[in-house]
Amino acid sequence: MGTKGREIVGKNIGKVIELLNKAFADEWLAYYQYWLGAKIVAGPMKDAVIGELMQHAADELRHADMVSNRIIQLGAVPATTPKKWFELTNCGYDAPDNPFVQKILEQNIKGEQCAISVYNNIIEEVGLKDPVTYNIAVQILGDEVEHEEDLQALLEDLSAMLKK
Ligand SMILES: [Fe+2]
Ligand SMILES: [Fe+2]
Repeated sequence: MGTKGREIVGKNIGKVIELLNKAFADEWLAYYQYWLGAKIVAGPMKDAVIGELMQHAADELRHADMVSNRIIQLGAVPATTPKKWFELTNCGYDAPDNPFVQKILEQNIKGEQCAISVYNNIIEEVGLKDPVTYNIAVQILGDEVEHEEDLQALLEDLSAMLKK
């Protein structure tokens, strides 16, 4: 039990845990959306897209791990059921019902843009009152910004190709 580590977060701790649990739910849903998307995606540039989706899935799972470790450090429990992910999520879940590359890329870009807002908001809310959570959120935000960039670059290449 990290009592001093928790004490420095102060009275804000409940809010921090709530923000982290919501982000935790987002990460699992994003992980599954990417994981399934990588299996079923179809159309031009499929192989490049699969590689990117698999890489992103691994990153989202790593983020879920980072966020859950922090929730536990703060003395709370990460959402214990997948059902709770849907109650807590900020960004929701876009089922890849249409496997066309363009559609899958657009859905995941939307998810990344939501994730960027979520971590940016955590950084603003937490600030230096909780430097440990702040540091985790900054690291994850960097990845989400990179993810958006990767997917938008693929979508641009795809659009150029489809126009030919
Ligand atoms: Fe993530
Ligand atoms: Fe991401």
